[in-house]
Amino acid sequence: MGEHRLVVNGEPVSVAVTGLRSLAEVLRAELGLTATKVACGRGECGACTVLIGGEPRMACSTPVVLVRDEVETSEGLARESESLRRSFADHGAFQCGFCTPGQVVHATALLRQGIRDRERVRHALSGNICRCTGYQAIVDCVVAAAEERT
Ligand code: FES
Ligand code: FES
Repeated sequence: MGEHRLVVNGEPVSVAVTGLRSLAEVLRAELGLTATKVACGRGECGACTVLIGGEPRMACSTPVVLVRDEVETSEGLARESESLRRSFADHGAFQCGFCTPGQVVHATALLRQGIRDRERVRHALSGNICRCTGYQAIVDCVVAAAEERT
């Protein structure tokens, strides 16, 4: 077992590495950052979305040993995503809430890029699967949060 250095939510950390141990497992089991959810566990649903170097990535299918750039999780983005989270609540954009942290993390990256076009938002979030809601409310709340920023 080796050690791997990471920066997570602005903090340097050293984590244990064995084989292809995933970033999601390290975040949840080793660093206690359990807002990153694991549903499919094989890179298909987006529940585990985090930002790596500012880009949305699926932490369940990312070997931690390959991570070089800063990781931002839902916890680290809590302040920045406040208006977005409020918008999710206002638009009723979640039911069970299991997909919501991944949706919010991904949408935070879209807002940073100034993306507010409805079709671009819909396309960008198409890899974040929600089994509860129609996607309309999710897209609506991201567009509303983006417009609130401008
Ligand atoms: S849990 Fe990672 S993509 Fe589904
Ligand atoms: S709110 Fe239940 S999976 Fe999206």
